[in-house]
Order: sequence, then structure tokens, then C-alpha cells
Amino acid sequence: MSRHNTAKESVARYWNQASCGTEFIEEIKHSREYFEAIEQFRYTIEPEIFAFAQFTRFHGKKVLEVGVGAGTDFLQWVRAGAQAYGVDLTHEAVTNVLHRLATYNVAACDVQVADAEKLNFADNNFDLVYSWGVIHHSPDPVQCLREIVRVTKPGGSIKIMVYNRRSLFAFYQYLQHGLLRGKPFASMKKILAQHQESPGTQAYTFKEIKNILKDFPVRINKLQASTTSHDLLYYKKSKFIKACAYIAACLSGWDRRGWFMTLDLTKRED
Ligand SMILES: C[S@@+](CC[C@H](N)C(=O)[O-])C[C@H]1O[C@@H](n2cnc3c(N)ncnc32)[C@H](O)[C@@H]1O
Repeated sequence: MSRHNTAKESVARYWNQASCGTEFIEEIKHSREYFEAIEQFRYTIEPEIFAFAQFTRFHGKKVLEVGVGAGTDFLQWVRAGAQAYGVDLTHEAVTNVLHRLATYNVAACDVQVADAEKLNFADNNFDLVYSWGVIHHSPDPVQCLREIVRVTKPGGSIKIMVYNRRSLFAFYQYLQHGLLRGKPFASMKKILAQHQESPGTQAYTFKEIKNILKDFPVRINKLQASTTSHDLLYYKKSKFIKACAYIAACLSGWDRRGWFMTLDLTKRED
């Protein structure tokens, strides 16, 4: 098996243990309470998703979500009346989503196990392709992007979130796994690949993303980072540490050093 396939298998193995955002939920799996708790937690710690996704603007549109995870955003596309299609590398995610849709008695067009690097959809197919925190986990994120652009209609929208390597959260990972472990010269890329969720996770600078995008038939509407609860260390108990993180965010330019980098793109028509 090639190194690429082995890497993808380890990504799938990681996310098959638990879809993103379900790991701290104590309610009975797949119960209504379970899904309510996931949703409440997600939009409490990541409220910026609503401003970025703008779910209700896609009523009646054909939307593909790449990497649905536990399906919290996917449910918003369905509730908003979009023709919703979803894919994820794992059975765990697809099972979560199917249970979730049944719990709320709503229907999507299709949810399937599929690899973002090889999407099973025709060219120029979707009004919007949305992917939140996914492609940087795949061994070849640029191939995911190629596929996302391919299946988007000319003039259609693409909304993607990837991690920002020049962020406070990434710096805290460096402190925890590099500097404080006596490895001041450990590279940030390596630290994130080894310690941030599934094996091999990547994170980008603005310059790298612009460089990648210049080879694609897309117009950049907005490329921005936002300070997240992760940069503000929401999970720490100590108020002092949280206050320090808040001050660090203010001094470092606030959003500029945020962990989430959002790409709002339009596929060019020419
Ligand atoms: C951090 S979770 C994000 C899930 C969801 N978008 C969310 O925000 O909760 C990453 C997801 O990406 C999926 N994933 C990783 N690589 C993928 C690939 N090549 N194709 C499809 N899904 C992939 C994983 O299975 C996992 O469900």
C-alpha cells in the first residue's frame, strides 16, 4: 500500500473512533439529547460558523458539504431548505448524520462515504461547496481543493475553513509540545501534524493559501482569519490563563492571529 493510502487510512481510523465534537458528549449516542448537546456545544464555541456559512441564503440551492463529521452544519443546510448532499471519509460520520436526519424527521438528497480527493460527482454540479475544517486533515489537501472546484458550477460559491499556522492556538501547541518539552527548535508543521487531531494535520499561512489558489479558476472574495475560542483557551479553568490569552490576542492583532482561516471563493465563469 502506498504511503498516501496508509496516511489516509490513519486519518479515517482516527475519525471513525469519534466524529468531531462528539467526544465530550455524555448523552446516549444517537438520541435527540445527544444531537442537541452536540449542536449547543458547537455553536457556543464556534459561533463564527453562522456568519461564514450563511445557511439560509442557500435555500433551494444545490449544496455539497465535504466532510460532514457529526452533521451539525449539514443539518443547518437541510433546515434552510437547501438540496443538501454530504460526504465524509468515515462510516461513523455518515451513520451520525443519517440518525440525526431521522431524529428531526428531515431529509437530505444524499449522504455517502466518499473521499474528498476523489469526489463521485459530475463537473460543474453545485451552487455551493462547503467544507469546514476538513481538507487539511486529508493527505493531499490541494487535490481536495481541485475536486471541490471541479464539482462547483461556474459562478458558484466555495466556502472552506482551514487552520492558520500563524495563529495563537498554533503557538500554544508549540509551547506545549515544543518549547516546554525542551524542544525549542521543533517545527510548527511537525507539531501540528503529530498533535492536532488526526495524524498529518496541516495548517497554512495566508501566503501559502494565496499561492495555492493562484493555480485555480477562482476569485477570492474574502480570505480572513478569526480569533476563536481555541485561541482564547476556552477549555482552561484558570481565569488568569484565559485573561493572558485574551491580552495576547489583543496585542497580536486579534483576528489576524486566529486559528480558523476562512476562504470565501467564487468559481470563475471564463
Ligand atoms: C475536524 S472534522 C470536521 C467535521 C465537520 N466539518 C465539523 O466541522 O464538525 C474532520 C472531518 O473530515 C473528514 N475527512 C478527513 N479527510 C477526508 C477526506 N479525504 N474525504 C472526506 N472526508 C474527510 C473526517 O472523517 C472528519 O469527519
